[in-house]
Amino acid sequence: MRALLVDRSAPAGLRLGQTPDPEPAPHQALIRVAATSFNHGEIRHVLENAPDGAVLGWDAAGIVEQAAADGSGPAVGTPVTTLGPDGAWAELRAVDTGLIGTAPAGTDPGAISTIPVAGATALRALHRIGPLLGKRVLVTGATGGTGRYAVQLARLGGAHVIACTGNPEAYGDGLRALGAHEVVAEPGVLGAPVDGVVDLVGGRQLVDAYQVLAERGTLVAVGHAAGESEHFPFGALFGDQGRHDRSIATFFLLGCTGLAPDLAWLSARVFAGELDPQISWRGSWGKAAEAAEALLGRRLHGKAVLELD
Ligand SMILES: NC(=O)c1ccc[n+]([C@@H]2O[C@H](COP(=O)([O-])OP(=O)(O)OC[C@H]3O[C@@H](n4cnc5c(N)ncnc54)[C@H](OP(=O)(O)O)[C@@H]3O)[C@@H](O)[C@H]2O)c1
Repeated sequence: MRALLVDRSAPAGLRLGQTPDPEPAPHQALIRVAATSFNHGEIRHVLENAPDGAVLGWDAAGIVEQAAADGSGPAVGTPVTTLGPDGAWAELRAVDTGLIGTAPAGTDPGAISTIPVAGATALRALHRIGPLLGKRVLVTGATGGTGRYAVQLARLGGAHVIACTGNPEAYGDGLRALGAHEVVAEPGVLGAPVDGVVDLVGGRQLVDAYQVLAERGTLVAVGHAAGESEHFPFGALFGDQGRHDRSIATFFLLGCTGLAPDLAWLSARVFAGELDPQISWRGSWGKAAEAAEALLGRRLHGKAVLELD
């Protein structure tokens, strides 16, 4: 089969080449991939450390080519979106049936290829905060692939949504159109505390967001896009003066269980037009290097979708 292979000598470390077909385990289905989407973590961190010839990739959407031998998961011919630790950037993917979300017939595979990491992370991080109706929720890194899903889902859940971006002038209108009630350049400018934070940036933004967290609030430390350390000033973790019982929860999507129904639910929302996948780059997987470089250069705000043509 054809696949995007790690190749240090190629632009962005990726080239299209041939590799053996995957052999599914009994609990895995074989998927014929139509589209995949890039994520910050796999391009910035995983690709850098992977050996030449490896097939990486977390998100892939397509059609079930061969159902799982153990009888679990969807039938042959079902449109699906899938999540896994690797193997998405290839024509065929063997994937655990617990990480396959079925999609309505006629769904655009490019649109639902954005869901597994970005959509499911946003959904699970918001679940960690708790019921959202009437709560104030801050999303940092809101212009990114995960952030844009988090803004939309928090709004769907009934929260007052505050989106944080390094460039409110450029991205404010777009974030408001997605459902943000407020757009800010940094958490420190907020006039009132928030009940929950989905933090996708880390570093100083995490520390500042924690400072505006209300009593019993939860900050979910999902992402570390800034690549900075977190330094809390003395007193930041005191529990008095309305700061009792605030939490910071770490997050790891592949450590979550029961994701298949979430992937299916998110796919149905995208199909119905209730969630916008916010695709900001879409093209042939032959142009993978262009998408990877735009993502690393912070020029790609939203999702990059690669079509397997
Ligand atoms: N723990 C998990 O399981 C999990 C799952 C999904 C994602 N993540 C992590 O969550 C983070 C966001 O993921 P994503 O896919 O949404 O990434 P993305 O599309 O690249 O978005 C990241 C956003 O962070 C903001 N940002 C602030 N400082 C930055 C910097 N120094 N470099 C780059 N971006 C910066 C940018 O917004 P502005 O330019 O508007 O400020 C950018 O839009 C990443 O760290 C990713 O690895 C973790």
